[in-house]
Amino acid sequence: MHITALASLLALPALSLAAPTVKQVKQHTLGVKHSPYAPDHYDPYDRKVDSQAEGLHPEPFRNGKGTTVLGPRNRMREQQDPDMVRPPSTDHGAMPAMRWSFADSHTRIEEGGWTRQTTVRELPSSNQIAGVNMRLDKGVIRELHWHKEAEWAYVLSGEVRVTALDSDGGSFIDDLKEGDLWYFPSGHPHSLQGLGENGTEFLLVFDSGGFSEESTFILTDWLAHTPKAVLSENFRLPPELLEHIPLSEKYIFQGSIPGSIDEEKPRAFKQSKLNFTFNMLDVEPRVGSGGEAKIVDSTNFPISKTIAAGHLSINPGAMREMHWHPNADEWSFFIRGRARVTIFAAEGTARTFDYQAGDVGVIPANMGHFIENLSNDEPLEVLEIFRADRFMDFSLFDWMAATPQRLVRDHIFANHPKAAKEFLKRVEGGGKDVIKKQYYKSPEAGKELEDLREEAEEL
Ligand SMILES: *[C@@H]1O[C@H](CO)[C@@H](O)[C@H](O)[C@H]1NC(C)=O
Ligand SMILES: *[C@@H]1O[C@H](CO)[C@@H](O)[C@H](O)[C@H]1NC(C)=O
Ligand SMILES: *[C@@H]1O[C@H](CO)[C@@H](O)[C@H](O)[C@H]1NC(C)=O
Repeated sequence: MHITALASLLALPALSLAAPTVKQVKQHTLGVKHSPYAPDHYDPYDRKVDSQAEGLHPEPFRNGKGTTVLGPRNRMREQQDPDMVRPPSTDHGAMPAMRWSFADSHTRIEEGGWTRQTTVRELPSSNQIAGVNMRLDKGVIRELHWHKEAEWAYVLSGEVRVTALDSDGGSFIDDLKEGDLWYFPSGHPHSLQGLGENGTEFLLVFDSGGFSEESTFILTDWLAHTPKAVLSENFRLPPELLEHIPLSEKYIFQGSIPGSIDEEKPRAFKQSKLNFTFNMLDVEPRVGSGGEAKIVDSTNFPISKTIAAGHLSINPGAMREMHWHPNADEWSFFIRGRARVTIFAAEGTARTFDYQAGDVGVIPANMGHFIENLSNDEPLEVLEIFRADRFMDFSLFDWMAATPQRLVRDHIFANHPKAAKEFLKRVEGGGKDVIKKQYYKSPEAGKELEDLREEAEEL
């Protein structure tokens, strides 16, 4: 331990009593180059640390408090969860788990494919939505089935053929690629099949946390549990011809390679007038200074009555601004990169979670939050999914802009007119900037911030 550094920290009584001035912090850290997890590291602003990219092991030291870990450790987990080991000083109170990784889900392995799920059983806070990650190799089929829940899906990789039947008796067939979506309302029968050289992988989302991929209504399962005499009557066939049908469900299995949609369309059957599929690339993004968001809900994808979604790309150092969703829990799936998210749950309760590719996060409706791009080596790409017909959010920035300035001043800066003036100048007129670029490191902010800092130090 850096005894001298620790001693010098203790020798700064102001630090432990009140928020330190910028000058004190600067002096304290001047010329000290060491890990942000060192006992003598001081950061009153709780900056993010990408411990994985920097090869740092998080330690439970924060601003002069804490000590070493003596017991057993799972260092890889700790590196993935730096804000659990050393949470920001603003975290407080009890909050249930809001993170799960598909890496912790059981994988069901089948012929040419696999599937794993994150439901309320894996993550108890995931009670509005369940997610399934599925892979089907070339020609591999997720067999004809239906279920009580509606199904929304996002193609993560490769190509997939989907078939469905609508409730007006129209047949539907389409081929999808990475970034495309589908939605099957509750009870609508459908199938999926991997195309292309390597088949496909996708994320399925169901509008109930209690969904189980193990309990869908499957064609072969039904046939196997119906008397052959009844099948014979139903299909107008001698029962002898039904002797060799499967004895149990096939679920995921190697199928033959499909022909083109045109070749395979059931000609004698009426075609569906509905669109069960959607190309997310077609969506006009909400462009922010630090990235963009594409929103898909029933306003642009009419059939998707129970699921609304946003696809976010967050630039270097940028963040999805502070906001909340009034109408549903957010269920996020991280496609690329790493993120830091603090969830504010009222009653002085807040907890910070770190997420990375393959993780699922839940943010209950109305709880305030942000998403920071933590990763220095990978883009941050995330899906926000809601059990709702519309995507809705409230921006804290815009709320401050929409409120009479006097009210804002009285709430936040009653004793600090200078800071009030600067704050109100920033928010004036709102931002409509849902993903904000990093301000502190931008060249234009540099000079302006230096000036403001010097003024702050003089106060
Ligand atoms: C299929 O997978 C192989 C092996 O991972 C890879 O080399 C090839 O580029 C992939 N093909 C396509 C079309 O993605
Ligand atoms: C289906 O989507 C296509 C464009 O992707 C559009 O032209 C067509 O009008 C849509 N049909 C319905 C019934 O919404
Ligand atoms: C996230 O930030 C890192 C660096 O902070 C950057 O390399 C990466 O490209 C960013 N993600 C996106 C989507 O731009």
